[in-house]
Amino acid sequence: MSTSVLPAAGAHEALETTAAREATRGLVEITKVRKSFGATEVLEGISLTVEPGGVAVIVGPSGSGKSTLLRTINHLEKVDAGFIAIDGTLVGYEVRGRRLHELREKEILRQRTEIGMVFQNFNLFPHLTALENVTEAPVVAPRAGKPRLSKAEARERGLELLDRVGLKDRAGAYPRQLSGGQQQRVAIARALALDPKILLFDEPTSALDPELVNEVLDVIRELANSGTTLIIVTHEMGFARDVADTVVFMDQGQIVEQGTPEQIFTNPQEDRTRSFFSKVIEPAFNI
Ligand SMILES: Nc1ncnc2c1ncn2[C@@H]1O[C@H](COP(=O)(O)OP(=O)(O)OP(=O)(O)O)[C@@H](O)[C@H]1O
Ligand SMILES: [Mg+2]
Repeated sequence: MSTSVLPAAGAHEALETTAAREATRGLVEITKVRKSFGATEVLEGISLTVEPGGVAVIVGPSGSGKSTLLRTINHLEKVDAGFIAIDGTLVGYEVRGRRLHELREKEILRQRTEIGMVFQNFNLFPHLTALENVTEAPVVAPRAGKPRLSKAEARERGLELLDRVGLKDRAGAYPRQLSGGQQQRVAIARALALDPKILLFDEPTSALDPELVNEVLDVIRELANSGTTLIIVTHEMGFARDVADTVVFMDQGQIVEQGTPEQIFTNPQEDRTRSFFSKVIEPAFNI
């Protein structure tokens, strides 16, 4: 059963946006997205573009809507209004007639294979080894247009990915036998297994002991140079400054301001941004 969510004008605008785009890899366009839970509007008209290969870091106070925004990008959360397109293709919807209709579940799952997501709590399968966690996806749900990998091919690719996150020697370990930092690196390898156009990170280091944070940030830094589009929610401001092309400051469901790390950290224009950074950035933090 499909649902129309937008009036004709919205659908028209969506069509124009998507039609104008050439084939690129990893262009994210978020346009006037709104989302409420019950009576509370948690996204109040968010618009954000992340260029192919770009690295956007989203910061903001607890409850400002950062996770909800990330979840709308892979349609884990349906938007109430507005739309999101990846490389010119709408996420979760198609335009039919003059309205947007939600895609069928199968098509939504297919789209999701193009978008990797890494969560705060790793979400590894406890009963599978590190390697099996990584290979599960390409064996079970291959990327659209790509052949299903044989077990041997998936294993080889899984080992390559574990090598990339520095864990080839722990391929046979179960999550409970790995540190938090190692588990998160396995989760990153798993997200990479489908060769996604975009990787979303929701506070990837906030469940880790401080001494394990850097090993995960180093892996993400390496990805930032690899040409995959990254959208990262984090409270690690030093890391954000290093790795972001664009820092986005959200508060109360809105993007208050966005810009280069230099603009946002050293010369924020809005009082809300200044006030947030005065609380989260330690005096020792060196800009
Ligand atoms: N499934 C849900 N049902 C009802 N309310 C929700 C749901 N998910 C999120 N919310 C509410 O939406 C608001 C935004 O939540 P969200 O998790 O996006 O914030 P956040 O910026 O990621 O916060 P944090 O930094 O604490 O992770 C919060 O007020 C939250 O309570
Ligand atoms: Mg969150």
